[in-house]
Amino acid sequence: MVGEQITGAGGTQEFWTQTSANMPTLYDQELGPVFFVDFADDIARRAAAAAPLHVLEIAAGTGIVSRRLCDLLPAAAHLVVTDLNPAMLDVARGKFGPEEGVACQIADATALPFQDGGYDAVVCRFGVMFFPDKKKAYQEAYRVLAAGGRYLFSVWDSIDHNPLNRLVTDVAAGFCPADPPRIFQVPVAYHRIDPIRDLLDTVGFTDVKISVVGVQKTIADIAAFSQSLVYGGPLLGELRARRRPRPGGRRPRRGDAARVRPQFHAHPPPGNRIRDAAAVAGPRAAVLAVAAAVCASS
Ligand SMILES: C[S@@+](CC[C@H](N)C(=O)[O-])C[C@H]1O[C@@H](n2cnc3c(N)ncnc32)[C@H](O)[C@@H]1O
Repeated sequence: MVGEQITGAGGTQEFWTQTSANMPTLYDQELGPVFFVDFADDIARRAAAAAPLHVLEIAAGTGIVSRRLCDLLPAAAHLVVTDLNPAMLDVARGKFGPEEGVACQIADATALPFQDGGYDAVVCRFGVMFFPDKKKAYQEAYRVLAAGGRYLFSVWDSIDHNPLNRLVTDVAAGFCPADPPRIFQVPVAYHRIDPIRDLLDTVGFTDVKISVVGVQKTIADIAAFSQSLVYGGPLLGELRARRRPRPGGRRPRRGDAARVRPQFHAHPPPGNRIRDAAAVAGPRAAVLAVAAAVCASS
């Protein structure tokens, strides 16, 4: 088994296309600084270290990593930014000037519309967990890489290392306890290193390197952030699918944190610290694995 597959509503990619109109902006502007910016720097720096000239990013979302890649890659590099969701990709497109030569296009990571062997590097930050067929997605990354090319991707570590995901899952369950949304479990369900390594090996990648990276953040505006957790990602689609028309009608409150917080104090995940116990999601720690796999020479 590769990770723990969360299936059913929300466990699939279509939820990225069934959310609020301003979802991509909230994702980018509100969730981005907390969840994504630090890891964008990390993976972009790793990808740029080998100075690849032809780089493909898949499941690029709103282009948070893409922007950093563009900044760090050699001036002669050609970057292609792709995602399944047109609205997310529109935000990404807006981050580049015409002179930067970045191409943005819709692409399904499990059926890439690119020829074999055209890229020195493929980059995917926090997308793999959502791919319904992970082996196919790895095969596609492998296929479009040139011999010796590198695939760099990241996934979130388990829910034990990402307490915010447990908190959001608990709060969302309060809306529909009979059938709780599980979307915030999806990103943290594909974290077991050995099965990931085995699948990469099966597909043909060699020299797989995996690192674990920890980041701890304090959230400045808890109210805005809490709203964005609903409206800035697939959770809204999950709630709507359960015919709860006003998920925003009951915003996460400080009491929610108080309910969950003692668990963190009693069993703090390794490396995590609770700095501001008053915040709903205040301090958070995230750990992710970055896998860099080399496309075997053919
Ligand atoms: C958590 S977001 C990550 C976005 C971006 N990489 C980042 O780190 O900010 C997951 C993204 O995966 C995209 N996605 C889901 N399934 C996909 C697929 N099969 N092919 C391409 N993109 C997909 C979604 O549209 C969404 O933008």
